[in-house]
Amino acid sequence: RVGRHYLHGEIHRQWGEAAISRLQELGRRAAAMGSSAYLVGGCVRDLLLQRNMTDIDVVIEGDALRLAADLAATVSASHLHSHPRFGTATLRFADQFRMDLASSRVEHYPQPGALPIVQAGGIQADLWRRDFTINAMAIALNPASFGQLLDPYRGLSDLQEGRLRVLHTLSFIEDPTRILRALRFSARFRFEMEAHTLGLMKNALAIDIFRHLSGPRLWREIRYLLQLSDLLPALRLLQEWRLWPLLRPPPADPAALFATVQRALTLRDWFQLSFPREPLLQDALFLRILWHDIPWAERQERLNYFQVGGADEIQNDLQRLPEIAAQLARGIRPSQRRALLSQLRVEGILALLAGHPQGPIQAAGLAYLQTDRHLASPLGAKEIMALGFAPGPAVGQWLKRLRDARLDGEISDEESARQWLLNNLKQPPCKP
Ligand code: CTP
Repeated sequence: RVGRHYLHGEIHRQWGEAAISRLQELGRRAAAMGSSAYLVGGCVRDLLLQRNMTDIDVVIEGDALRLAADLAATVSASHLHSHPRFGTATLRFADQFRMDLASSRVEHYPQPGALPIVQAGGIQADLWRRDFTINAMAIALNPASFGQLLDPYRGLSDLQEGRLRVLHTLSFIEDPTRILRALRFSARFRFEMEAHTLGLMKNALAIDIFRHLSGPRLWREIRYLLQLSDLLPALRLLQEWRLWPLLRPPPADPAALFATVQRALTLRDWFQLSFPREPLLQDALFLRILWHDIPWAERQERLNYFQVGGADEIQNDLQRLPEIAAQLARGIRPSQRRALLSQLRVEGILALLAGHPQGPIQAAGLAYLQTDRHLASPLGAKEIMALGFAPGPAVGQWLKRLRDARLDGEISDEESARQWLLNNLKQPPCKP
C-alpha cells in the first residue's frame, strides 16, 4: 500500500536524510504562509517506480517565489534562482540537490502547438493539465499530511499496470510534443498506450498535428529520444506509429537500419568505457547514422528547421564518409589513414564503424581511435632544433613528418628518429 508512512519511508530511503529534512522544512514554511506544497510530476512517478531521482518538482498552492526566497534564507548552503516572469524558482544545494518550485496553475491553449496561457489554480487543476496520469500524481509536503499521495486521476493503477493514459481528449491536440513523450515513456518503461489514448493519438496524427509545432520544439523532443540509453525500442515505436517523417523519410530497410543502430550503441558503450574523459554527443552520433542515406539538401533543410547545433560538422562528416570509406577499403598507409580520419569528429568515426562492422574500414577506424590519433613524433621541437634546425614553421612540419614516419613504422624511438631526420635533410620539409 502506498500510504503516508510508506512514501515518507521511500523518500528517505531513495533520496536520503538531507532531502527529507529540506522537504519537511519546505512543508512547514508553506503551512506557516497558509499555503500547501506538493511534490509533483516525474519525480513522484520515479519515486513510485523506484527509479533514480530526476529533478524535484514542487508545486505550491500559493506564492512559489515568496516561499522559495523564504526557504533560501533558512536552509543551508542554498542558491536561489528566480524567474519572476514565469512565477518559478530553482533552489540548488551544495550536494547537487535541486528543487524547482512553481505555483499551481491551469493552462489554456489558444491554438494547437502554441505555448499555453497560464492562470492560477488549485493542485487538482494543476495535475489535470498534465500529459499522462502517471505524471499527474502529487505527494503532500505540509506537516499535517506529509507523504500523502494525491492521485485524483488513477495514475497509480496505470503505473502499476504499465499503462499510458491521457487525462483529457484534447491532450495531444493542445500539445503534440506529448506524442513523442508517450513514445519516450513507452520505450523507457516498456509501457503500453491505453486503447482510447492510442485512438486519440491516431486522430491527432491524422490531422497532421505536428505541422503546428516549431522546429526547435520538435528537435528538443527528438533529441531526448536520440539520447535514450536504449534507443532501439523508441525507433521501433517510431516505425510502428508511422512517425518516421518527423525525423527522416521512412527507411527502405528498417531492419538493416536498426542493426546499424544496435552496433552504434555497442560502440558508444565501448568508447565511453575506453575514453571516459572524452565527450561523445549521442544525439549527434545517431543523426549521422539515421541520416547517412538522405541527400545533402534534405539534411540541410531539416537541420535548418530544427536549428540543430553543430550542423556544419554533421554535414561535413556525412559528405566525407563515403569517400573516406572507399579510400580506407583500398588499403592505405597508416599515416594516410590518419590524415583521412582526422577530418571527422569522433561521432563521425563511430558512425563509420557502425556502418562497416568488419574488414579494413573497421580495422582502420579502431586503430585510429585507439592509437593513431594519440601518437606523436618521438622527438619534440626542442630536440629537433638541437640538431641544428632553425626555429620557425618548418619545425612544425618536421614534427608532423616524424609522427607520420612513426605511424608507418619507419621509426620507432628517438634514436631512429634522429637518424631518419638527418637522412631526410636533403628533402624539403613540406610534403609535396
Ligand atoms: N508535462 C506535461 N506536458 C508536457 C511536458 C511536461 O504535462 N509536454 C508535465 C508532466 O507532469 C511531467 C512534468 O510536466 O511529469 C515535468 O516535465 P519533464 O521534466 O519534461 O518530464 P518528466 O516527467 O520529469 O520526465 P523525464 O524523466 O523524462 O524528465
